[in-house]
Amino acid sequence: MSILVLNGPNLSRLGKREPEVYGYRTLDNINRELVLAFSSVTFEFFQSEVEGALLEKLFSIEDKGGYRGVVLNAGALTHYSIALRDAISAITLPVVEVHLSNVYAREEFRHKSVISAVCAGVISGFGANSYHLGVMALLALAEPAKELPEPD
Ligand code: DQA
Repeated sequence: MSILVLNGPNLSRLGKREPEVYGYRTLDNINRELVLAFSSVTFEFFQSEVEGALLEKLFSIEDKGGYRGVVLNAGALTHYSIALRDAISAITLPVVEVHLSNVYAREEFRHKSVISAVCAGVISGFGANSYHLGVMALLALAEPAKELPEPD
């Protein structure tokens, strides 16, 4: 079972970019930690500064098949890219929106996400762990929690 971890603009700069906000791990560090943490998952990692390249990647994995879903940190595209939103709507694979920082504790323009409504869910504010929680969310989607027994 494969999961695509897709990162948008400026996430290639992690480790150097505003470490007080995004931490000191590089994107490569984060990706390696995911591989170590989830040995049963086959990961594919892709990052681009270019909006269209992210759309093409989503379509290519949908067409290829064999993927459980996508963990997506769209960076600033989160807040304005209708093209990315439409691409997420256009595919059937579940997409979990993740952010390293708590976008709701930051500038007001970060409080609005144009992609959340078409994503399976949102994880924001747990640093590199947001990606781990995103993978766990995708795995849980495939195996929903068991029904609670009826109360006596
Ligand atoms: C981010 C939050 C976005 O607002 C910002 O534009 C980013 C990173 C995060 O991971 O916290 O590039 O998605």
